[in-house]
Amino acid sequence: VLEEAGDLVVPSLQPQARKAVLISNAKVFGLYGQTVSRSLKRAGLEVRTFLIGDGERYKTLRTLDSVLQFLSSEKLERTDSVVALGGGVVGDLAGFAAAVYLRGVDFVQIPTTLLAQIDSSVGGKTGVNTVAGKNLVGAFHQPSAVLIDTSTLETLPRRELTAGWCEAVKQGAAGDRDLFDSTVQLLRGAGGPLQAASNNGVDRLIAKQCAFKARIVEGDEREAADRNDSGSRKILNFGHTSAHALETITGYRRFRHGEAVGLGMLVAGEISKGLGLLDPSELELLQEAVRSCGRLPPADDLDRARIIQLISQDKKSVGGKIKWILLSRIGRAAIVDGREIPATLLRASLQTAFQHRL
Ligand code: NAD
Ligand code: GLY
Repeated sequence: VLEEAGDLVVPSLQPQARKAVLISNAKVFGLYGQTVSRSLKRAGLEVRTFLIGDGERYKTLRTLDSVLQFLSSEKLERTDSVVALGGGVVGDLAGFAAAVYLRGVDFVQIPTTLLAQIDSSVGGKTGVNTVAGKNLVGAFHQPSAVLIDTSTLETLPRRELTAGWCEAVKQGAAGDRDLFDSTVQLLRGAGGPLQAASNNGVDRLIAKQCAFKARIVEGDEREAADRNDSGSRKILNFGHTSAHALETITGYRRFRHGEAVGLGMLVAGEISKGLGLLDPSELELLQEAVRSCGRLPPADDLDRARIIQLISQDKKSVGGKIKWILLSRIGRAAIVDGREIPATLLRASLQTAFQHRL
């Protein structure tokens, strides 16, 4: 796909498109940048490249400002485009730049991490972090095209794969039993998270994951605050309420986001079981699925009282109330008001989930 990026992208752009600004970071550009750039040029586009720093700490307004300055210094026009080559950090930031530059230019995603291929490149959420929190500033801006070349997963570090697989399990568990089963089968059948990423079946699975996410986004693009049904975009936040607390309490240093989501799903699963919503056998399936994603960092040493405090400040609250994404079965989410979850159950669920052998 990378070799053919130009021919694949051009039909999705405006007929007058002349120029493309390729945004990446040094690591990803070093691996795949020349291939993509050459292909875009062969398809007739003038290509300029801008590299941002590697990592979440560069997903900032400051980096955005430097990208916007570059786009204007290159005189990118309304009919031109921005192409993101990288993981979710590059994609979210480049997408936001494309959303606001000249009030919106075309934007193409070429995601190179598993997480970005199944989740962040699809659905149009773009944005940056601020000192007040993650993803606090952003815009919905749908990409004109998303090109996924799964051979890029061959260079991805193990932890990034585990984080991506956790998000893949999340999507199936929250909304599609068949997708959940296909994901677990690939992980088990291939013999582990690394092998699954280079298995022949990974292309089909990623396509299935994207189709699932696109279906949810089509049904609730802007994540309507008043939607609490199992088709709400909110269900994609399954596992995220405790994940955000885990990331915050460890200063974003211990967990990759997807790893924290892996643990967060176990907490939500325990609460679901405790409320009598989820059958214990379904929770076991979820636990096995999370285990098959790879080893997760420990969380049982963390201050649970502080985690509970952080959970109560979750920014995804509606009208000041926390909404938990729980499960009534694998593949069907239930959105539950935090006030319906007894404090004792929350404490016990955190303890049990974090002591679970992974
Ligand atoms: P990332 O973009 O930081 O990439 C992870 C690491 O892998 C980086 O060091 C990167 O340089 C490297 N990398 C990327 N591709 C590689 C490859 N093929 N080979 C070797 N190394 C490679 O992290 P991520 O997990 O892709 O994305 C996380 C971001 O995505 C977060 O900022 C999160 O908020 C965002 N996100 C957005 C959405 C959305 O809907 N927009 C959804 C989920 C997550
Ligand atoms: N990653 C969650 C969403 O796109 O809504």
